[in-house]
Amino acid sequence: MTRLPKYDVVSIEDLSLDEIERIFELADQFAAALEQRKPLDLASGLIMATLFYEPSTRTRLSFESAMHRLGGAVISSAEMSASSAVKGESLADTVRVVSAYADLIVVRHPYDGAARVAADYAPCPVFNAGDGSRQHPTQTLCDLYVLQKKKGRLKDLTVAICGDLKFGRTVHSLIYALARFGANIVAAPNQGMGVPDHVLARLAAERGYKFSTVTIDELKSQAGGLDAMYLTPSAPHQMALFTSEMPLDASPPAGQAPASLDAFYVTRFQHERRAAGERERPDYLRFDAGALKTSRAQEAVVMHPLPRTDELAYELDSDPRAVYFEQAAAGVPVRMALIGWLLESAGKTRVRPNPEQPLLVFKADNAPRCANPNCITRHEGRYLRSRFRLAPAVSRAVLMLRCEFCERELKVEYVGHARSRRYYRFDESLYGYVRQWIDEQSLVIFDDVKQAEESGYGPYRRGPQREIMNADEIARASEELAAQMIADLPDLTAVSLVGVVSRGAVLAARLRHLIQRQTKVAPPCAAVEVHRSHDGLYPLDGSESFDVEGRTVVLVDDVINSGWTVQRAMATLWKRGRPAAVKLAVLIDRGHRALPIRPSYVGKNIPTTRGERVLVRLAEHDAAAGQKPADRVVIYSMVESLKQPEDAP
Ligand code: NCD
Repeated sequence: MTRLPKYDVVSIEDLSLDEIERIFELADQFAAALEQRKPLDLASGLIMATLFYEPSTRTRLSFESAMHRLGGAVISSAEMSASSAVKGESLADTVRVVSAYADLIVVRHPYDGAARVAADYAPCPVFNAGDGSRQHPTQTLCDLYVLQKKKGRLKDLTVAICGDLKFGRTVHSLIYALARFGANIVAAPNQGMGVPDHVLARLAAERGYKFSTVTIDELKSQAGGLDAMYLTPSAPHQMALFTSEMPLDASPPAGQAPASLDAFYVTRFQHERRAAGERERPDYLRFDAGALKTSRAQEAVVMHPLPRTDELAYELDSDPRAVYFEQAAAGVPVRMALIGWLLESAGKTRVRPNPEQPLLVFKADNAPRCANPNCITRHEGRYLRSRFRLAPAVSRAVLMLRCEFCERELKVEYVGHARSRRYYRFDESLYGYVRQWIDEQSLVIFDDVKQAEESGYGPYRRGPQREIMNADEIARASEELAAQMIADLPDLTAVSLVGVVSRGAVLAARLRHLIQRQTKVAPPCAAVEVHRSHDGLYPLDGSESFDVEGRTVVLVDDVINSGWTVQRAMATLWKRGRPAAVKLAVLIDRGHRALPIRPSYVGKNIPTTRGERVLVRLAEHDAAAGQKPADRVVIYSMVESLKQPEDAP
């Protein structure tokens, strides 16, 4: 058995920001030791196996060099095409076998999610050295390490990422990491090679993070592109491109400084990820010294994960701003640091960096399949089933599942309830039910009505909806809530807001804003997940951590139905520490509930009967856009009908 802890690095999110900083500290120490030619024996007695199912120069050799430099040993199959994989051995079997020969496995694979499978089946730690077009987290560590060295920080840097942003895996992990470090991103893809929607959706849902996309010409041109780009102060991580969001002749708002660029991250055309007929390199970006001459880019460094093809002119190599060979060289100290971090983490307890969504359990005969054709589950289906978790969504109006392996999202159109054998077209009003069915393991997913009916499910229909509050009334009720809180809470600096996902979280963010407007105090704000999550509390205000210990916590929700949501939210809070007091704020009190819970602050009292549902819609609106949110509260009764829904296809 390995003496290393089972900490897999499959995605960049597997490391907390503190852990990344620690790895950089260690990388500095190892770089100094290498410089001084100090022999090291930290990893003596340890064996690392490198399993590369795809070509590699830098990643594999720097991993192997790192292990040798630390006094450890390396075993490797010269090429996986020379291994049992060609005889049809599964990835799962290979890693199980190799774990008996090594303490640590580094894997590169052409399928998305392969590294997650390896991590699931190997008892030893697994490092992802690139899986399909999904992620390449250790390359991202090298990229961030060099960027931070060159610019002195990562927060608030502006990085233009150029080229094939669709299939470039280094790009995807880099984007997630830059978002977490609070950097600004400008995407400049080649035509048709933009950042995939699932990456954008995830950034928006999990971090409220957005960025601008420009054409490569706009990026390069002095007059058009960057000079027209400004940081919007209301959304610090968001770039607003005036050329696309405002009329061309609009002048920049007074007092705003144009954004300057800190780095270009150039990538090659990923021909090997494309279907046979699309591998021909199109008219592709060519980055040369000219791009650094624009007024906003003179201080920018030029990065590239390498290998380069024709997108990066050789003339740049002698320019001190070209740092791509330094990124490649950083591979050794950074990967030594990763191994060093594993070694120093042995025996210590670790706080998991990510809150986990509940795993969905389906019966084998109606389990949905991952829609990504390059997902490992589509290729190793003999033993591997698709596995899904609920994806955090920006709104409850869409139900998104996320594949546990390739992390691609699946939009659900039809849901069924296994016990009553009824199917529904998913809409916002079903969200609460679906969460309950997940907990009861009675959720079924259908692609369409036909599939539902062939599985023996009948349609379900609700009674008509009646609007009981409009956007203005909701705004008044929110102000009422904020006013009650301000009057009741003597020291707002000791107050933290926790909104129940998702409407309560939207409301909590709004209350924070209202309180700040009146008192200049902005209480820390977090969202709490109540459905079977292990660590479902995450900050909403951009900070990395959220403290409950000794604080007065105001739990915020839209409506209390049964009261169990509140109970679960409290249990999650208590796992994080002991608040000095917990208060409850609800937008609507419908007057009855199963548990004896009394809200401290109520926006509006609306008595309803038990058979009625109150549904609150709170748009997650962008204050900067100045739009009035399409908020409303509706009420409806649950009426069943066996008639075919009109809107069924
Ligand atoms: C990258 C990869 O394999 O994804 N290479 C690397 O590890 N430095 C980038 C690429 O191949 O384009």
